[in-house]
Amino acid sequence: MQFNNLIVHIENRVGVITINRPKKLNALNKDTILELHHSIKSLDADNDIRVVIITGSGDKAFVAGADISEFSDFDVQQAAQLSREGQVMLFDFIENLSTPVIAAINGFALGGGLELAMAAHFRVASVNARMGLPEVSLGVIPGYGGTQRLAQLVGKGRALEMIMTAQMIDATKAEHWGLVNAVIPEEELLPYCFSLAEKIKQNGPLSISAAIKAVNANFKEGICGYDVEISEFAKCFGTDDFKEGTYAFLEKRKAKFTGQ
Ligand code: COA
Repeated sequence: MQFNNLIVHIENRVGVITINRPKKLNALNKDTILELHHSIKSLDADNDIRVVIITGSGDKAFVAGADISEFSDFDVQQAAQLSREGQVMLFDFIENLSTPVIAAINGFALGGGLELAMAAHFRVASVNARMGLPEVSLGVIPGYGGTQRLAQLVGKGRALEMIMTAQMIDATKAEHWGLVNAVIPEEELLPYCFSLAEKIKQNGPLSISAAIKAVNANFKEGICGYDVEISEFAKCFGTDDFKEGTYAFLEKRKAKFTGQ
């Protein structure tokens, strides 16, 4: 896959997307958002890919935000369109993807960068990572789901503190607050994410997709997560993966899941 703003490579059934605008600290312009959508869609459509890792190029930033130069003279309508299109095309799209997505936060994750990381299924940070939603320092609020997902992840009080002060938190605090699952030395960040991907790959891919749907249902207005869990749980029983997983256990062998 060839992109102008991304490097995409596949290793051991894991798709790694590196956002590659280091001179702009990997800020998300319109083209990058579109390319992220297309690259993630095509990795998700490939049955061979079991996990997607998103990271940033260089040693300074994961993503330093939405590209401020692109929206500084937008009016109210254009702003609504930017926010809505971005949420649908990228942030909600990632959150609801059937393939697990890990954000490897290798430096600044600010504004749209933190929102991107929060749309992933979970996050791992390098020790030098710094995270924040500094939009109010620009006279605006987060527009790519940040007000919702930050509060879900760290709680309302901590989310409002981060948003209202526009201050960054370091990786240790982010781990303490539950924003990232682990903090890893810079050079070990990707190997660590690969080791997590290895563990995920051992398990039934259809059941992993079902788990994503069921967990996400908890955060969807008007949807009963318990009902979604019942239906996803039941659907697993109709898959070859379920038969393989249970027979393998009973036969004391390692399951070989096909994703069927
Ligand atoms: N949008 C557009 N360009 C950005 C950017 C963004 N969100 N974040 C960084 N850049 C650009 C800078 O304009 C600069 O470009 P230039 O060299 O052409 O002037 C380049 O990336 C390097 O950034 P710089 O500010 O010089 O690096 P720094 O190490 O001094 O500071 C940050 C790093 C992350 C603290 C600082 O870049 C910053 O505050 N960025 C904006 C963060 C933000 O508000 N994000 C939310 C956007 S909604």
